[in-house]
Amino acid sequence: MITKTVEKSINEQIKREEHSSRIYLSMASWAERNGFPGAANWLYVQTEEERIHMLKLVHYLNDRGGTAVIPALEAPDAKFKSLLDVFQQVLKHEEYISESINDLYAVCTKEKDFTTANYLQWYINEQIEEESTVRSILDQIRLAGTEKGGLFMMDKEFAAMATAKRAALAQSGGANAVT
Ligand SMILES: [Fe+2]
Ligand SMILES: [Fe+2]
Repeated sequence: MITKTVEKSINEQIKREEHSSRIYLSMASWAERNGFPGAANWLYVQTEEERIHMLKLVHYLNDRGGTAVIPALEAPDAKFKSLLDVFQQVLKHEEYISESINDLYAVCTKEKDFTTANYLQWYINEQIEEESTVRSILDQIRLAGTEKGGLFMMDKEFAAMATAKRAALAQSGGANAVT
C-alpha cells in the first residue's frame, strides 16, 4: 500500500509527464510547419515516449493500491523563435523534470517507501539519457548555425535519429509493454 503523500507526488509526476508529451507535440507541429521535417519526426516520437512515461506511472500507482488521477489538459506554448529556441526549451524542460523526479525520490525515502524509490531508478536513468541526448542535439544545431545548408543537413540527421528512436520504442513494445 502506498501512502497518501507518495500517491499525491506520483500524481503530480503523472501530470508533468503528460504535459511533457503535449509540449513536444506543440514543438513537433511547429517544426513540421517551419521546414524541419526531421526534427518534427523526432519530436513526434518524443511525444509518444513521454506518454509512455505517464502510462507507466498510472499503472504503477493503481497496481500499488493507489488511485491515478488523469490530469486536466493544459495548453503548451505554440510559438518558437527558431529550432535552437525549441531545443533550448526542451533542455530546460528536461532539467526541470529531472529535478522533479529527484524530489519525488526524496519524498519516497522520507516516507520509507523504498519500493517506489527503487521503481523510480528507471526514471532517474532515463533522465540522464534524455538530458545528454538533448545537449548533443543542441551542440549540433549550434554547429549548423543559421546557414540554410547547415540546418538542412542537420534536419537530415534528425530524420535518421527519429527513425532509430522509433525503432527502439517499437522494439521495447511501446505503450503495449506498459503493464
Ligand atoms: Fe519523461
Ligand atoms: Fe523526457
